[in-house]
Amino acid sequence: MFMNFWYPVVRAVDLGATPQKVRILAHDFVVFRDDKGQPAVLSDTCIHRGASLAAGKCKDDGTVQCPYHGWRYDREGVCTRIPSIGSKTKPPPRARVDAYPVQEKYGIVFAFLGDLPEEQRPPIMPVPEHGTDEWRSTLVTFDVNYHYERSIENGLDPAHNEYVHTTHGYQGEREDTYLMMELRPEQNNPWGYGFMATFDAPPLKNPIMRQFRKEGGKMEAGSGTYGPNHMWTYINFTAKTSMHQYMFEAPIDENRTRVFLLNQRNIGFFKQSKIGFLGKLFKPRINLWLDKKINERNMFIASQDIKVMNEVKPALTPPSRAKELMMPADKVILQYRDKLDEFEARGWRIDMAALRAAKDRGDVIYAIPCPARRETNAWVLDEVPRVAPSPAAPTLQAVGGG
Ligand code: FES
Ligand SMILES: [Fe+2]
Repeated sequence: MFMNFWYPVVRAVDLGATPQKVRILAHDFVVFRDDKGQPAVLSDTCIHRGASLAAGKCKDDGTVQCPYHGWRYDREGVCTRIPSIGSKTKPPPRARVDAYPVQEKYGIVFAFLGDLPEEQRPPIMPVPEHGTDEWRSTLVTFDVNYHYERSIENGLDPAHNEYVHTTHGYQGEREDTYLMMELRPEQNNPWGYGFMATFDAPPLKNPIMRQFRKEGGKMEAGSGTYGPNHMWTYINFTAKTSMHQYMFEAPIDENRTRVFLLNQRNIGFFKQSKIGFLGKLFKPRINLWLDKKINERNMFIASQDIKVMNEVKPALTPPSRAKELMMPADKVILQYRDKLDEFEARGWRIDMAALRAAKDRGDVIYAIPCPARRETNAWVLDEVPRVAPSPAAPTLQAVGGG
């Protein structure tokens, strides 16, 4: 797992003025909206004596108040009040928790879990379709009980479709002609690789989905990554009808992952500009009904993946590539692993062995360092241990872009 990337925390519609605890990268965070409605994400552990801030309250001065002794923290993580020392005494400088840069985008609250200054941060994966009249957007979240790298690699894998997804191929019934076609590079970027390929495409049986593909034939589809945890999948049913899916994944810990699936489609809805005066009475409702059907369909497809993925061993990616036998269709999975190696060489990989040992000891809690750690050493919790960067890694200054 890596720090220094943007992680999805919560759907924007699910966040109000009640603090919520969210676990990401095996650390707890508190997320809340301040008095101005702006989302804030802080390390959840109160640095007084360790209570969970998420069990506290949002106050009307924009702070979150610890439930144990009432210390208040603002959206910058700075403690603004310690009731036991009196309201006239200023809290000491070390009275602060890590506070993370936040962006609300595509209906998701993202937090940058790391300490890079703004100009060096890898960006959130762009979704150019979002918010346009041509494309309709839906967002769902679901949890899976496996490591996020395994989840991403499954999404990148072109050869499983024929066997796992009844709608994407012929279920191995045409094995004499089945061949995983050449992968054409697509959307390679500083943070990941991608591909498009041509798939066999049987006609779809589901009456809603039939709109997308009535005839059998060929279909273009592909996937790619953007950082360790952002992935796109394009399914181009025809030259003009597509579903573009964007997955933002949050590793809860090594065994669990929360997936934010942002689905964009350019068919199967009434465009906003075409709804008209009378259409307002029923078209938005039909759109919502179609959204629901599309989401159900996507979850059905996801359940086919989950069934296989729950049994994949080992649970974590093996450290040696010789311990799996890769084929040309697995190329983009190896490219993804190359990128993870690059992120590790930059010193961004969390030392999970150290974290596991700390958990076993039970007497230490770490924090993912936030950007303010670069300004002062006055912190109560230690930073999470990281795998040492490799000397050949590019300097942080050279990282930007994308
Ligand atoms: S533990 Fe939070 S105020 Fe004491
Ligand atoms: Fe799949």
